[in-house]
Amino acid sequence: MIIFNHVYKEYKNGVVALDDVTLEIPSGDFVFLVGASGAGKSTMIKLLIREEQVSKGSIRIDDTDITAMPKFKIPKLRREVGVVFQDYRLLNRKTVFENIAYALEITGESSREIKKRVEAVLETVHLEDKQNCYPTELSGGESQRVSIARAMIHRPKILVCDEPTGNLDFDTAKDIMDALDRFNQEGVTIVMATHAREIVDAMQKRVVSLDGGSILFDQESAGYYENPQTI
Ligand SMILES: Nc1ncnc2c1ncn2[C@@H]1O[C@H](COP(=O)(O)OP(=O)(O)OP(=O)(O)O)[C@@H](O)[C@H]1O
Ligand SMILES: [Mg+2]
Repeated sequence: MIIFNHVYKEYKNGVVALDDVTLEIPSGDFVFLVGASGAGKSTMIKLLIREEQVSKGSIRIDDTDITAMPKFKIPKLRREVGVVFQDYRLLNRKTVFENIAYALEITGESSREIKKRVEAVLETVHLEDKQNCYPTELSGGESQRVSIARAMIHRPKILVCDEPTGNLDFDTAKDIMDALDRFNQEGVTIVMATHAREIVDAMQKRVVSLDGGSILFDQESAGYYENPQTI
């Protein structure tokens, strides 16, 4: 369970990016964060991985108040909350396998365990045949699926994604959504910020719509513009 409790975020330049956001996301949920540019979507994502800190209010993940968490615990939080960005952020000098294995090597897993886990996660994103390729040899959709596999290698319970289909056409974006859906079916909570209206409409998941840092509507099985206040 993720709980935003009266969260405010004011950046140093005085911009109020989030203005009293209260939101509950049960474990296993799939939630889209939508809204115009500047509405506060990326800010919510950054708060969830403690890349930014709230100005007021709190955010809980299960029993942990991540806004009160000491800095030395942030690396552990980042293993428990996987993150995917629009621009993939792969290491070009490493193969697909190495890009994913790298994260596990840091935590000191055996090479046998690393191989097993990397191959399993590559299978889930349907890239088992690309493990020896370099990122420059991949399409945008494949690169993003590698980035998702890397985010999932620590088996986080939550995966947050900021515009993961931003650079991709609809059919390629659908492959990304299928990969996210498979992890969601395994019980992973997915929080995805997006502008991709046709993807949101096609998925029919929970939609939280932000406007100027506040929640405008929050609805299950919704489309992008499905605002109960206007129906
Ligand atoms: N590091 C920062 N310093 C100052 N202001 C910021 C910072 N990051 C974001 N903002 C401001 O906070 C507001 C919310 O930004 P945010 O990036 O969360 O919006 P968004 O909904 O993700 O927009 P987009 O759809 O363009 O990605 C905007 O007014 C933005 O200019
Ligand atoms: Mg953004």
